[in-house]
Amino acid sequence: MKAVIPAAGMGTRFLPATKAIPKEMLPVGNKPVIQYVVEEALAAESDEVVVVNSREKLAIEKHFAPDTELVATLRAKGKDALASAVEHAGSLPVSFVYQDEPLGLGHAVHCAAEKTADDRFYVLLGDVIVPNNNMLPRMKEVSDSHGGANVIAVLPLPDEEVPRYGIIAGTEVESGVWKIDSIVEKPALEEAPSHLGVFGRYLLSPRVMEILATLPPGAGNEIQLTDALDAVLAEEEMYALVIEPSDGYDTGTVESWFATNAAIMQG
Ligand code: UTP
Repeated sequence: MKAVIPAAGMGTRFLPATKAIPKEMLPVGNKPVIQYVVEEALAAESDEVVVVNSREKLAIEKHFAPDTELVATLRAKGKDALASAVEHAGSLPVSFVYQDEPLGLGHAVHCAAEKTADDRFYVLLGDVIVPNNNMLPRMKEVSDSHGGANVIAVLPLPDEEVPRYGIIAGTEVESGVWKIDSIVEKPALEEAPSHLGVFGRYLLSPRVMEILATLPPGAGNEIQLTDALDAVLAEEEMYALVIEPSDGYDTGTVESWFATNAAIMQG
């Protein structure tokens, strides 16, 4: 299975910090956020890790390119651990496709359509970290046990966060696994069908890619992945794996990035 990592967004919620530095390159501990995401995709034995990048965000590509000069300089100074860390980042197998304009998450995912072909594929948001790398394998288990169905990770949310997320409606079919009936984007609390919000990990069928190819723009005039998920529900099954807050961290805002650093540095 291929892994698609959308990382071509503008990171506006983090400006001006993200004027020159992609938000996916902000550090958590001593590594940029996107390195955790690539390592997680590789740990899940993805056949290929495809980052959807913007042509403006070259720092991401530089990070994953070898830098033999820097490695040699560090080794000459006896800084072997740092040299190995730099070598490791430059040796991770990552390929890139481009989203020329940030037309939305759904559009970004579709930019990798040629890579995913007719297979199921993972989507890992480039600004969301899952430190223990265990979520994708659990999602694959759920998919396999339901004939290759779509699976998304969902997080139980406190009341005040419900209106900021895509929220699922459905029924719990086994402990921690729901069968999804529909997904409502950013509902008012009183209209929300549950408190389970769509988190940044997905295992999707090739049909989702086909739907994305012709999907019109939705909220914010962007091509929304959530709209494609809602559309595919008319044709295919989708399950939700309920995760815990400590399973994963969104680093996309100043507050959540600070909280992620605090949690990871303590852990
Ligand atoms: P976000 O909505 O968190 O990223 O998308 P954003 O649009 O960059 O953030 P703000 O709202 O402007 O602050 C989640 C992931 O999807 C990517 C982003 O780079 C991020 O890693 N994305 C988003 C794309 O690749 N393309 C898009 O058009 C939108």
